[in-house]
Amino acid sequence: MARIGILTSGGDAPGMNAALRAAVRYGSGLGMTFIGIERGYAGLIEGDAVPLDNRAVSGIIERGGTLLRSARSAAFMTEEGGRQALATIRRQRLDGLIVIGGNGSLRGAQWLSDQGVPTLGVPASIDNDVPGSAMAIGVDTALNTVVECLNRLRDTAIAHERAFVVEVMGRKSGYIALMAGLAGGAEIILLPEIPMSLDAVVRNVQEGLQLGKRHSIIVVAEGFSPDDEPLEGTSPAQAICRRLERVDGLETRLTILGHLQRGGSPTAFDRILASRFAEAAVRALHEGATAAMMAYDGRTVVPKPYATLDEACANVDLDLLDLADRVAN
Ligand code: F6P
Repeated sequence: MARIGILTSGGDAPGMNAALRAAVRYGSGLGMTFIGIERGYAGLIEGDAVPLDNRAVSGIIERGGTLLRSARSAAFMTEEGGRQALATIRRQRLDGLIVIGGNGSLRGAQWLSDQGVPTLGVPASIDNDVPGSAMAIGVDTALNTVVECLNRLRDTAIAHERAFVVEVMGRKSGYIALMAGLAGGAEIILLPEIPMSLDAVVRNVQEGLQLGKRHSIIVVAEGFSPDDEPLEGTSPAQAICRRLERVDGLETRLTILGHLQRGGSPTAFDRILASRFAEAAVRALHEGATAAMMAYDGRTVVPKPYATLDEACANVDLDLLDLADRVAN
């Protein structure tokens, strides 16, 4: 009977629990037993392990966060941390490990597999920046959360004829900003992938005013950087706000959505995607696979080599930025 470790790592993403539930229950049907590793690679180093059976994962499919908790472990990147993680795997007699997390977490799974541990990776990150997979667990929920917030902000923006600058998550990836901006009817969308000058942002808002637009929503990814002004410690959204406040006749407000975007009950899409990823990972382990990350191609879940992580992520479709721009006025 295979003894499989499972952990959630990095920024939590709604749907991680649905993945844990599906992995444990699908795998137990195949005769596997599961050991939950708490707090991601930090728990792997420290040996924090709990047995997970079908009852332990009951009542969690609709819960955000992660039953096993999560962490970003700097220690795992060190030689000593890696050694301790491998020692836990040996001590726990794990025949394999399923890692649920984003880019960095899947790189950790790749490293363990290079050390001879069979590992399977499941993409989970609200940033949707895992190369090779069109979707990751948590993206759809975060997106819907942001769109709901934009709807609410637009109500008050219209009522007071104001410009709202809304900062969303995404240090390196503009996926949430782009897709939420498009779905939420934002007038301007600013991404880390496309630098723009603050002057251009101001001009764009002024053009809107001239066209009779009495309110506007400017969605800014936290990783956006203007190409005409150093940020000097402020967030890009704050910098934009400060510039817009100088425009005559324009009242501006700033909203930083922050970690609100990471919490909440997963959407049906995320629960289903999580269940499918988990099934594919467990099945791959059962069939003897020793190293692969699961990837969603828009229709099916397929295993891909970890080397896929070296590719550029193609999930931010800049044609959609053009579309959002064209339909903003
Ligand atoms: O998980 C991805 C992410 O939400 C990014 O969008 C964001 O920049 C980062 O995590 C925040 O990380 P932390 O919760 O560690 O502050």
